[in-house]
Amino acid sequence: MMAIDCKALSADFSTRRSGTTAVLKSVQLRVMTGETFGLIGPSGCGKSTLLRILAGLHTRWRGEVSIFGQTLQPDNYPRNALLSTVQMVFQDPYASLHPRHSVGRALLEPLKVNNIPEPARRLRQALDDVGLPPSIEQRYPHQMSGGQRQRVAIARALLLRPSLLLLDEPTSALDVSVQAEILNLLNQLKARYNMTMLLVSHDAGVIAHMCDRAAVMQDGAMAQLLLREQLAIYGGT
Ligand SMILES: Nc1ncnc2c1ncn2[C@@H]1O[C@H](COP(=O)(O)OP(=O)(O)OP(=O)(O)O)[C@@H](O)[C@H]1O
Ligand SMILES: [Mg+2]
Repeated sequence: MMAIDCKALSADFSTRRSGTTAVLKSVQLRVMTGETFGLIGPSGCGKSTLLRILAGLHTRWRGEVSIFGQTLQPDNYPRNALLSTVQMVFQDPYASLHPRHSVGRALLEPLKVNNIPEPARRLRQALDDVGLPPSIEQRYPHQMSGGQRQRVAIARALLLRPSLLLLDEPTSALDVSVQAEILNLLNQLKARYNMTMLLVSHDAGVIAHMCDRAAVMQDGAMAQLLLREQLAIYGGT
C-alpha cells in the first residue's frame, strides 16, 4: 500500500501585506510503505508546509491526499484513523516541548489522552528506545542538551507507535556528532517498528545517508526525483 499519495496538491497563504501567495503548486508525491523518502530544496520552497498538511496542521489546501489509503480533506483530517498513525518531529525540540513540563509529564500526557494501557511501562520503553535513562523523566527542557531534547521529542513521537514519521529537519539544530547519533537512532527505530519516514533536510549528505528516494522541491513544486544511485552522487558519498 502507498504510505502517502498526493496528487495536484496546492496550498497558499494569505497575508494582509502581500495578499495570497501560492506555496505548493500542484505537487505530486508518492511514498511507498516502508521507505525513507527525502525532501530537499531551498528555504521557503514549501517543505514544512507539505509536512504540516500531512500532519493535519495546515488546512488551507486543494487536491487529493491520502495516507495509508485514508483520504484527507482540508477541513476534515481523519484524526481518529490517523492520530496514532502519523507523528511529526520538528526542527527545534526546544520549541516543541513545553518549558514547564517535565519529560515524564510531556510523555505521559499523550498516553493518558489516548487511554494507552500501562502508561508508566510505555514511558520507560519510549525513553529506552531513544537511549535515555529513566532518571531523565524528572528533567525539564532547559536541563537537557539539544541532543537529549531531540531524543525526548522522538520518544514522544514514538509513544503511540506511528506507522509514518514526518521529520522536519530533525537534526539541523544539533552538533554534527550528535546529528549522526540521532540519524542512526532513527534508522534503528524505523527497522524495529516498521515505519515509513518522510525526511526534510537541507543537507544532501543526510538525505543520501538516510533515504531510498528523494525529491528536490523548488518554489512550491517537485523539480526532480532522485533514486538511490543518484542520491549517492547528490550527497557526494
Ligand atoms: N504562517 C504563514 N503565513 C504566511 N506565509 C507563510 C506561513 N508559513 C510559511 N509561509 C510561507 O510559505 C512558504 C513556504 O514555507 P515553508 O515553511 O513550507 O518552507 P520550507 O521549505 O520549509 O523552508 P525552510 O527550509 O526555511 O524551513 C514561504 O514562502 C513562507 O514564507
Ligand atoms: Mg521548513
